[in-house]
Amino acid sequence: SEEDLQAHFEHTIERDQRIEPRDWMPDGYRKTMIRQIAQHAHSEIIGMQPEGDWITRAPSLRRKAILLAKVQDEAGHGLYLYSASTTLGADRAELTDKLINGRQKYSSIFNYPTLTFADVGVIGWLVDGAAICNQVPLCRSSYGPYARAMIRICKEESFHQRQGYELLMTMMRGTEAQREMVQDAVNRWWWPSLMMFGPPDAESPNTAQSMAWKIKRHTNDELRQRFVDMSVPQAEALGVTFPDPDLQWNAERGHYDFGEIDWSELKRVISGDGPCNAERIARRRKAQEDGAWVREAAAAHAAKKGATA
Ligand code: ACO
Repeated sequence: SEEDLQAHFEHTIERDQRIEPRDWMPDGYRKTMIRQIAQHAHSEIIGMQPEGDWITRAPSLRRKAILLAKVQDEAGHGLYLYSASTTLGADRAELTDKLINGRQKYSSIFNYPTLTFADVGVIGWLVDGAAICNQVPLCRSSYGPYARAMIRICKEESFHQRQGYELLMTMMRGTEAQREMVQDAVNRWWWPSLMMFGPPDAESPNTAQSMAWKIKRHTNDELRQRFVDMSVPQAEALGVTFPDPDLQWNAERGHYDFGEIDWSELKRVISGDGPCNAERIARRRKAQEDGAWVREAAAAHAAKKGATA
């Protein structure tokens, strides 16, 4: 009966075991998982754009090869996650449709422009650093295919973060102008990186239920604090500062205190009104339209093969 299924589901969550595609799950759980996985997949795919903009302008063959590999990894993560969403009954074409029609979200962070090559380094260090901070606990998320995807994705993200940090280290050993470029990029990306973790807990409609279902293992504010704590010593080692006069160690709490985030900015960017939202979606839409003939040809080929088999 439905009650037995519900009890079995809850028992599985309680014992920290995984929910698998064929298991019964409440509609709300399925919807939440599809929403989070789709948003995550869209973020990976849209996230190719800000850095992709620098592939043709990377300052050396070595930097170009690294950046190309990194952006390809992001495409891989996106496809991997779309596949995970189909195990819940989602349809990939439909998800893409929703993305380009503004009916599904993707991370706010990818709506900011990459003005200099230092931005590539800062995205690796801070943006991928924040992504890792958020995603490592998701390796223990209750939905099996998502948790397993996260393991592989986090390994690649760690490589991305290190390439960013190494790039910045190199620039910091360069000229005064290069050091200024790094500091300028840090100034622009710091606050948006903190916003990646989502609204504060008190204003996060999904956290309580997602924690109860063990989809999320920590709240938005917990992960944001963890990220601040790990980033400060990294900034010191690099020789840059964060644009926050209130950032200071609080011995009593055992954490860094930090200034108030401009939540109105996050709301604006999420609702489509960030610096690059229109450009990102237009580019994604064009890629989808340009690729239509490939999808049609592949479908026709598959149908023909099916007919002769
Ligand atoms: N950018 C865009 N949308 C956001 C952001 C953000 N930074 N933060 C929160 N939101 C959205 C939520 O998705 C949610 O949308 P909804 O209207 O579909 O419900 C709404 O704002 C309210 O937020 P929460 O209740 O806090 O939502 P949730 O519990 O899903 O937490 C979080 C948000 C932390 C982003 C969570 O979904 C998550 O961990 N996702 C997986 C990681 C991910 O998507 N990372 C993508 C960026 S990293 C990368 O790709 C390199």
